[in-house]
Amino acid sequence: LRQPVNVTVTGAGGQIGYALLFRIAAGALLGPTTPIRLTLLEIPQGLKAAEGTALELEDCAFDLLRGVTVTDDPAVAFVGVNIALLVGSRPRGPGMERADLLEANGRIFGPQGAAINSGAADDVRVLVVGNPANTNALIAAAHAPDVPPERFTAMTRLDHNRAVGQLANHLDVAVGMIQGLTVWGNHSASQYPDVFHATAEGRAVRDLVDEQWLAQTFIPRVAQRGSEIIAVRGGSSVASAANAAIDHVADWVNGRGTDWTSAGVVSDGSYDVPPGLVCSFPVRSVDGQWRIVTGLERNEFSRSRIAASVAELVEERDAVRALGLLPPRRLASP
Ligand code: NAI
Repeated sequence: LRQPVNVTVTGAGGQIGYALLFRIAAGALLGPTTPIRLTLLEIPQGLKAAEGTALELEDCAFDLLRGVTVTDDPAVAFVGVNIALLVGSRPRGPGMERADLLEANGRIFGPQGAAINSGAADDVRVLVVGNPANTNALIAAAHAPDVPPERFTAMTRLDHNRAVGQLANHLDVAVGMIQGLTVWGNHSASQYPDVFHATAEGRAVRDLVDEQWLAQTFIPRVAQRGSEIIAVRGGSSVASAANAAIDHVADWVNGRGTDWTSAGVVSDGSYDVPPGLVCSFPVRSVDGQWRIVTGLERNEFSRSRIAASVAELVEERDAVRALGLLPPRRLASP
């Protein structure tokens, strides 16, 4: 019998937690034969919601679920964890400046990184969903000096999936026929969904769309899709975010054929992105590790947009460094 895999979800009492946990327990994350033990981390105010979710998980009688623990203690939540989904974060409140937001989240992701460092299993994989996701992942990695930095990732898969969906719709092809698309940079409005290497039913997308549609419709719509969902639905993206988190981890663990996808991973200096930044790149999972797809040509249009998003990541890194939230051992180089 296979050993259960320990999966910890933070912010488990929140909206994405609720959309995520039942799919994980049903086998969407690791497949239909891998048993799972779930740990739900919340802050004290969120514990009741997480406990209620745990009761409902029990009521689903999922074959694969080998137990659910609910806690508000990060030191407990990450003991033996194999897969950590860091969803809980501090949202921007009224009148909150960007520096306040970075600081409030640094106070969450620093201690969680430290708890992962001391408690996690050797093969731990971490996905940060909570915003600002890239910089939160950078902070968590910086507090986990014994965990290889490439195990800390940030979610840009929702942006990737949004871009694939938009493109498939525009070209009237099945989503599965879109390949080679990349979202670069930060999970923010500065992100750059790049179609210049993409194909649709094997044909180069750049020959099928015009630059005006790219610059004025496609790119802004993908980058601002979160706001569009809020305006139309009256609430933020939840089920699609949970779905993207599952896609990210499932592909990381199992690979995904020949196509690449997008994920926020620690830069190795590829494409002139400063080493150490957690930036969205084209990635492929090889033997259970994300590898940046190298050697893609970038035209002027792409270069300037990637540079703008990377500049924003550098600014965020410098801001959290100035706040003392990046311990020296894992400082990203300037
Ligand atoms: P939510 O507000 O419904 O739930 C967040 C939960 O996190 C709350 O229950 C809260 O009590 C908990 N929490 C706060 N601090 C915590 C801590 N230190 N430890 C454990 N739990 C903590 O929010 P929702 O809709 O579930 O979204 C969660 C996060 O995901 C937000 O930061 C949101 O911006 C982000 N997000 C990221 C996306 C991406 O593409 N990377 C897409 C959509 C959302």
